Amino acid sequence: MAKTRPRVARRVQTLRPSGIRRFFELVERMPEAISLGIGEPDFITPWRVREAGIYSLERGHTHYTPNRGIGPLLQEIAQYLDRRFGVSYDPDTELVVTVGGSEAIDVALRTVLEPNDGVLIPQPCFVSYVPCAVLAGGRALQVSTSVEHDFQVQVDDLAEAYDEGTRALLISYPSNPTGAVMPRAGMEALVEFAADRDMLIISDEIYAELTYDGAHCSAAATPVGRQRTILVGGFSKAWAMTGWRLGFAAGPADIIEAMVKVHSYAVMCSPTTAQEAAIEALRGCDEEIDQMRREYNQRRRVMLNRLNEMGLSCFEPKGAFYAFPSVSATGLTSEQFAERLLEEEKVAVVPGTAFGPSGEGFVRCSYATSMPLIEEAMLRMAGFVSRVGG
Ligand SMILES: Cc1ncc(COP(=O)(O)O)c(C=O)c1O
Repeated sequence: MAKTRPRVARRVQTLRPSGIRRFFELVERMPEAISLGIGEPDFITPWRVREAGIYSLERGHTHYTPNRGIGPLLQEIAQYLDRRFGVSYDPDTELVVTVGGSEAIDVALRTVLEPNDGVLIPQPCFVSYVPCAVLAGGRALQVSTSVEHDFQVQVDDLAEAYDEGTRALLISYPSNPTGAVMPRAGMEALVEFAADRDMLIISDEIYAELTYDGAHCSAAATPVGRQRTILVGGFSKAWAMTGWRLGFAAGPADIIEAMVKVHSYAVMCSPTTAQEAAIEALRGCDEEIDQMRREYNQRRRVMLNRLNEMGLSCFEPKGAFYAFPSVSATGLTSEQFAERLLEEEKVAVVPGTAFGPSGEGFVRCSYATSMPLIEEAMLRMAGFVSRVGG
């Protein structure tokens, strides 16, 4: 009889399930818990965007679109990137509309990596980066960041992890989970580091609109950066459109054309309804985004103050919608802290280790939840910390 072979590829077997998922399963069994674990806006998509989606369906626009995306949306994205990021792209050759920022990251990695190419990935970071790099046949070279450097990756640390087979640097500012941003000087240093080694930069800037202290600086915003950066953006966060599954990638034409090929074989095109609705998101929602940003900012300040008051020292997050306090004063590991806080106080936070080994000693608290729930969660958390000894 023929020997049976493993039915699941080894590289998939070796992937660890996301630490966030495991935690959500615990939370689901506890519906009365307050969740600070979520990574999506509590706001509903602005009405005018939903209306545009409904209108698209009413008109019977239920077919495939061109692989790259519909022309008017590509035009709007190009104008938006020019206006908000200070970078201009040709909508016909330098943009592709993807199924969320998630697909843009996956396709970018699959497009540029040769087998065994290294990808420098500063961590703690969004949970999909390392698995996507591995699934694309690459080697994830994880580079730790620390609170001492405001969770901004240091060029010396990148240089230490770099080897001859390294092809790309995958960065994300503002950061999930830390809320760190990268000011212009730091970004220019990263771009120079990549350029000196002829590396590409995949820059996930999905939280760019949610920056609270100073302007967002794109990795593509300098001529050197632009020619080697795949800029990833999306509608999930600032426009509260997670369920619509829409994002985009922008970059030099040779890379984007190749990404369109991979994208077309993987998903054909992004959802038609979402694409038509997103035109309205870019044309008419500046005010709604401002309002959501103001609200997040208020919650950010409240959460930051409360965490520091209760003895969990917290680096000031300058973007996204997460605080990343240190829990080391409690003597508990990240996992122990999160599990006990959930069991004893019914408050869910995510252990920092879900985002990489250097997340140990921290937990991620999302402020994409209402102010009264944040206040209550902070009260319960303060009680817990004083009990375990903060
Ligand atoms: C840093 C970062 N990038 C990308 C994504 C994926 O977003 P989406 O695929 O919904 O656009 C997320 C979602 O949490 C994220 O935090």
